[in-house]
Amino acid sequence: EYPEYVKMIEVGPRDGLQNEKEMVPTRVKIQLINMLSETGLPVIEATSFVSSKWVPQMADHTEVLQAIHRSSHARYPVLTPNMHGFQDAVAAGATEVAVFGSASETFSQKNINCSIDDSMLKFEEVICTAKQQQIPVRGYVSCALGCPYEGPIEPTKVAEVVKRLYELGCYEVSLGDTIGVGTPGSMAKMLHYVMEEVPSSALAVHCHDTYGQALANILTALQMGICAVDSSVAGLGGCPYAQGASGNVSTEDVLYMLHGMGIKTGVDLSKVIEAGDFICKALNRKTNSKVAQARSKS
Ligand code: HMG
Ligand code: MG
Repeated sequence: EYPEYVKMIEVGPRDGLQNEKEMVPTRVKIQLINMLSETGLPVIEATSFVSSKWVPQMADHTEVLQAIHRSSHARYPVLTPNMHGFQDAVAAGATEVAVFGSASETFSQKNINCSIDDSMLKFEEVICTAKQQQIPVRGYVSCALGCPYEGPIEPTKVAEVVKRLYELGCYEVSLGDTIGVGTPGSMAKMLHYVMEEVPSSALAVHCHDTYGQALANILTALQMGICAVDSSVAGLGGCPYAQGASGNVSTEDVLYMLHGMGIKTGVDLSKVIEAGDFICKALNRKTNSKVAQARSKS
């Protein structure tokens, strides 16, 4: 039994671009988001309010968030690891935010410079303040299927961190295969433990395609009742604190699979391919999407 509808969360403008060495011009980011807004995507993660010393590429977060044309059909969450980021995001006009934790202690230190326990204290403050302002908060758990520093992560550990974020008030928790090492076997096992703690309606999967397993892993998650999928246009992406993390699964490829299975998304694949074309030309790069490659040959 597959879901009838899958909610697609586009993370290209954030996860896709954050790792780019050369500064991507702000106007290119704005045009990318505007093109994605025309595709029918219901959620477009726009940028992140993190330290510009840590992630210089996201330093133009305020300009980006203020200049984009927001579709009334889409939501535009931004990453906010702490109160500093949250306050900057709200001042820039954010109406939805996301906190990002990790199931790996070492990755938590490398990515956000604090332990898992300390990160939960910071997230609690963000989530409580957001609640008072009626701002929904999404959560991420990185290293759900493996850590670049610690290797395999116990599914019970993942479940514990997901539960903590959910109980703090995240409306949805995205399970990040940050370095794309998972397989359908490890995905199914991890989900089994997580779904004992948190309902599948409050979960999403966030797959990177480093080992070419992303579509298979997503299909496995759909079979188990997950109906929210993170992806990145043209398969852009990687995490600056996860060496070897290649791109996110491409939005085009996920859409092709879902539509081919008769699952609705409300997203226009051709328009996503156009947005992918645009960003690949701007970055002077070939697309990572197989579907976009196939379509450009015909
Ligand atoms: P820190 O240095 O520990 O922060 O950074 P601090 O509280 O000790 O403050 C130090 C300085 O940073 C202070 O400034 C603060 O004001 C400033 P100073 O007094 O020295 O001038 N500061 C900030 N500035 C701007 N924005 C902020 C902010 N907070 C403090 N929000 C911090 C902690 C989390 C900020 C830092 O470690 C950071 O920015 N890390 C980057 C994390 C990141 O963006 N990683 C990539 C995204 S996560 C990901 O890609 C995984 C995901 O896709 C899922 C998956 O694939 O698994 C989500
Ligand atoms: Mg990611």
